[in-house]
Amino acid sequence: QEIYLNGLGGLVPKYPFTHEELESAARAALPPSVWSYVAGGAGDEHTQRANAAAFTRWGLVPRMFVGAARRDLSVDLFGMRLRSPLFMAPIGVLGLCAQDGHGDLAAARAAELTGVPMVASTLSVDPLEAVAAEFEETPGFFQLYTPTDKDLAENLVRRAELAGYRGIVVTLDTWVTGWRPRDLATANFPQLRGHCLANYFGDPVFRALLDRTPEEDPGAAVLLWTQLFGNPLTWDDIPWLRSLTALPLIVKGLGHPEDVRRAKDLGVDGVYCSNHGGRQANGGLPALDMLPGVVEAAGETPVLFDSGVRSGSDAVKALALGATAVGIGRPCAYGLALGGTEGLVHVLRSLLAEADLLMAVDGYPSLADLTPEALRRVG
Ligand code: FNR
Repeated sequence: QEIYLNGLGGLVPKYPFTHEELESAARAALPPSVWSYVAGGAGDEHTQRANAAAFTRWGLVPRMFVGAARRDLSVDLFGMRLRSPLFMAPIGVLGLCAQDGHGDLAAARAAELTGVPMVASTLSVDPLEAVAAEFEETPGFFQLYTPTDKDLAENLVRRAELAGYRGIVVTLDTWVTGWRPRDLATANFPQLRGHCLANYFGDPVFRALLDRTPEEDPGAAVLLWTQLFGNPLTWDDIPWLRSLTALPLIVKGLGHPEDVRRAKDLGVDGVYCSNHGGRQANGGLPALDMLPGVVEAAGETPVLFDSGVRSGSDAVKALALGATAVGIGRPCAYGLALGGTEGLVHVLRSLLAEADLLMAVDGYPSLADLTPEALRRVG
């Protein structure tokens, strides 16, 4: 309807509707170093491309006479009823994509406007409390890069609880940054500018570890952060993480069914199947190909999924393969680059509209109807 009404009113669309156009418009809008950081991946980016290509190997089988005039895309997650099965995946240093530098706040506002929850990165330009202050109806989640200093980790979780986040997502696959040629080739790699350390610089536990405040000596503060950051967690850390919070605990970066079973046994509330959008390991399996094994091992435990979702139909396929909710990474950054909150709302609404229309025309009125039976392997 909107398409025809806009046409009648002579309205010219402000933002692109295909991923390819979105990507090239964002490329033109962003400084080259920021573009490299956001768009790039590990190695020759084979896995990054394979993530997206994996969706083309599945097709939805149309069903007719099912009365799909009304669709229900809402989903139960950790006791909450969410309007959308999509969520914004955590993106560190998102502020670099926003004209005013406040990309995290802009994303939180987009979450509120669309009902698409945001997972706020530890490495946000805006402090986690300011981001959470934007949430009213739509729940937010906090993503934790677990620092080696346990008191600091505990304090970050405590602050996230107090700020009102509704779950803690612990990222496991990025305790060291992958081999990223585009970042290596970019002299002013943005993370090194300390843009993303608001959550550390403002933290009393972090500040107590320094001789001089981050304002007086930002170099020393950035150096301390680099020392605290690289923390390869082990299974023994899960009970400790579990003990930190009563909030839902989700572990991000799982792909192996055995890891999923073990995480479940240790009391996590959700597993997050992802290969970090191909930014960490080149040569790994496309994330979508790992999803069925993760879903089977997860059983009743909710499965979050991301990596390579570029359209509403991609999201529908991931849901049909058993994901409880589907994360969107780079397209969110691109929408933000083009039009701040408005651009990001456009991207999220477009993904939701495409998913909704696909469910209408192919006859799957609710997420419960989207099972693996709805799909056929194409190649
Ligand atoms: C990320 N990702 C990420 N993940 C995380 O847990 N914490 C973080 O701070 C970041 N930072 C980050 C920055 C940028 C620029 C990108 C593109 C990605 C990974 C992210 O959450 C998600 O797993 C991938 O982006 C999903 O893949 P697609 O949708 O980008 O293909």
